[in-house]
Amino acid sequence: MSSDDPAPAYPFTRDVGLTIDQRYRQLLHERPVSRVTLPYGGEAWLVLDHAANRTVLADRRFSRAKILGADLPRMFPQPMTQVSLLSMDPPDHTRIRRLVAKPFSQRRVEQLRPEIGRHVDLLLDDVERAGAPADLMSLVAARLPLRVICLILGVPEEDRAQFDAWSETAMSIFTRTREETAEALGHLSRYIAGLVAQRRVRPTDDLLSELVAARDGTDRLSEDELVFLGVTLLVVGHETAEKQVGNLVYTLLTHPDELAELRKRPDAVPAAVEELLRYIPVQTAHGVFPRVATEDVQLGDVLIRAGETVFPFSSVANHDPRAFDHPDELDLDRESNLHLAFGHGIHACLGSQLARLELQELVRRLLDRFPELALAVPEAELAWSTEGFVRGLRALPVTW
Ligand code: HEM
Repeated sequence: MSSDDPAPAYPFTRDVGLTIDQRYRQLLHERPVSRVTLPYGGEAWLVLDHAANRTVLADRRFSRAKILGADLPRMFPQPMTQVSLLSMDPPDHTRIRRLVAKPFSQRRVEQLRPEIGRHVDLLLDDVERAGAPADLMSLVAARLPLRVICLILGVPEEDRAQFDAWSETAMSIFTRTREETAEALGHLSRYIAGLVAQRRVRPTDDLLSELVAARDGTDRLSEDELVFLGVTLLVVGHETAEKQVGNLVYTLLTHPDELAELRKRPDAVPAAVEELLRYIPVQTAHGVFPRVATEDVQLGDVLIRAGETVFPFSSVANHDPRAFDHPDELDLDRESNLHLAFGHGIHACLGSQLARLELQELVRRLLDRFPELALAVPEAELAWSTEGFVRGLRALPVTW
């Protein structure tokens, strides 16, 4: 393609299951940073290779905040207006990340392992009670991430059903009206504000109490920031974690040799989870969070001009042969695995340790308790949802 050709319309195709469309592979090989025409707002840069993805995600000359409310190239009719950690730039973003670093550190999150393991077991008890064939999406995937967020925020047992219902509505931006999601977000914010107020008076041993107490010198999080953070965790952290639970189990069940090996070596589960996260292209084209260049930036052999929008597609970069040997193979013993499944740079996933822990405990206990676990229907009959931000199964019926 010469530089005068019109940029191709994007997205190229609808995503199918967990496959990466051939068009991405071709571009990854031939023109990893290329211009595309977005459904709204004109042309932008699609960034597919691992090295350039790392640059865009980590280089401060690429801004997230400048996207807010701006009429820029985008996937959605309306400009993005939802404020979250992911829509902030330094120094505002740096300040909050510094304050929340300790409560979300690997060391702190590790202390939650027994409790999260207990919740996984309770959900697997429900699977056993339901009997085969049982749907792991509704019985486990849809419930585990929310339970973990409730654990962090210290939502008492008796409030969970209501909290779940608000969260479900607040996050259904593709199926509910703007008013419905806004109303549910309002309820959640007020509810979280109530929890914060309680923790100020009477701290407990949950992570929310630590966030309330977090100090950086004399700086601390305000009430509004604490509520905003609680809502961010739900909105940003929930859907991906839910879909990834199903994607991980599905991928293991459709790789029986690798699964059999893993059953023999449960200590290999953490490395296996990392490889599964790399291997599974969870993002849809709509789930790539764009950045705006604040000045001219050279990206490989391409010059991005100030004000231009870039889309770093990390799920494709995780299959870049320049960064990973035999990238399309699921190699549960892969040694060097600098995947971008949790992003990179200042916006790297705040919940990554938590998500890892959930997934590790789930895989470990699932293998242990269900030695004969298998898909209950032929693979071709599984229904995928690919129109949201992340790819995932609508249902995952299993037998054992
Ligand atoms: C397997 C599950 C998960 C995956 C694959 C995942 C992936 C990601 C990725 C790729 C980003 C960076 C996006 C970007 O820079 O464009 C991110 C950011 C974030 N994630 Fe996760 N996430 C997961 C689970 C969670 C959970 C469980 C939580 C919280 C409870 C969470 C909270 C966040 C937050 C708050 C951010 C924004 C961080 C910032 O802007 O500083 N995530 N996540």
